[in-house]
Amino acid sequence: MAQTKRIGILTAGGDSPGLNAAIRGVGKTALGFYGMEIIGFRDGFRGIVEDRRLKLDRPTLAGILTVGGTILGTSRDKPQRMTIDGRVHDMTSVIVKNYGRYGLDALVCLGGGGTQKSALRLKEAGLNVISLPKTIDNDVAMTDLTIGFATALDIATETIDRLHSTAHSHHRIIVTEIMGHRAGWLALGAGIAGGADVILIPEIPYDVHKITEAIRRRSRAGTNFSIVAVAEGAMAKDDARAFQTAEGRKERARNQREKHEAKLELAALEAKHSGNTLRLAKQLEELTHLESRVTILGYVQRGGIPSPADRLLATRLGSACGDLIHDNVFGVMVASRGDRTEPVLLERVAGKRKIVPPDHPWVEAARRVGTCLGD
Ligand code: F6P
Repeated sequence: MAQTKRIGILTAGGDSPGLNAAIRGVGKTALGFYGMEIIGFRDGFRGIVEDRRLKLDRPTLAGILTVGGTILGTSRDKPQRMTIDGRVHDMTSVIVKNYGRYGLDALVCLGGGGTQKSALRLKEAGLNVISLPKTIDNDVAMTDLTIGFATALDIATETIDRLHSTAHSHHRIIVTEIMGHRAGWLALGAGIAGGADVILIPEIPYDVHKITEAIRRRSRAGTNFSIVAVAEGAMAKDDARAFQTAEGRKERARNQREKHEAKLELAALEAKHSGNTLRLAKQLEELTHLESRVTILGYVQRGGIPSPADRLLATRLGSACGDLIHDNVFGVMVASRGDRTEPVLLERVAGKRKIVPPDHPWVEAARRVGTCLGD
């Protein structure tokens, strides 16, 4: 008789709506449909290092479909760089040892770009790893969608809808900062859906004078307010050039010293970038003479009940993950490609980022309806 499979599951990186729906999708398929055993590890990769286990049985998997966050907890710990007692250690071999000790046949990792890299590392260390893509940023390579994006898009769009009242009533510019790390999917999507007048994304560096011109044009036409949706990673042209140069230096570094110097330069540029949205609003106020205000959405975008679209995606990817484990398909990320669910080799995902192409249909559509993209 075939032995019961035992699988582990963890959530890593920033939380996002739909994680519990995905845990439930994997869990119910594995447990209920295939009769496997499933163990949850708390707080990302740390849970498997520090033996923080949670048995995922039927009662634990019930009632979590609509719950935000992750019942497992999460962390940004990486297997190869984990702080233990104040010192950084490579814990990969401990994870491999504990995987064997717990009698696991597979480990499911739910996470964004960083987690896909960690999953590949564990695959290379010999584990049967399978991953699911989740992040509100939608920037994981080789998948059309990531779990959490749809809900964050709803939240950011609703915020832009609501900001219109104040911008309109007070004849103000409202600059709203939207998350997304180094990708503009969320700001672009919410900006278009919410009818923002200016949308700024990292993929299209901006010129503040172009934005000013667009706002002045609106004023001349009798519309004395504007909503500017700015992605947290959006940059003015000069800053973007400086970043690119430093990144190029890091990639071309011939030794550890050069790499370290490039990293310091990047950290300094990042520190300078924080507060960019506030500075931009001030600049726009000075240049247009319209009163400006800022709304930074922050973690509101990651919180609360997942939307139906996210619950559906999470259940579809989670159940497909259960099927793949049953078929002994490992070393892959379960991707959403069109209407289908496809396993994609982790090597094709890890270390890559899906950003907005300059000719993406959303970009074209925004330009057609007269939205200023800052270029
Ligand atoms: O990846 C999701 C995300 O919310 C990004 O949009 C944002 O840049 C980052 O996480 C914030 O990270 P943290 O939760 O560590 O502050």
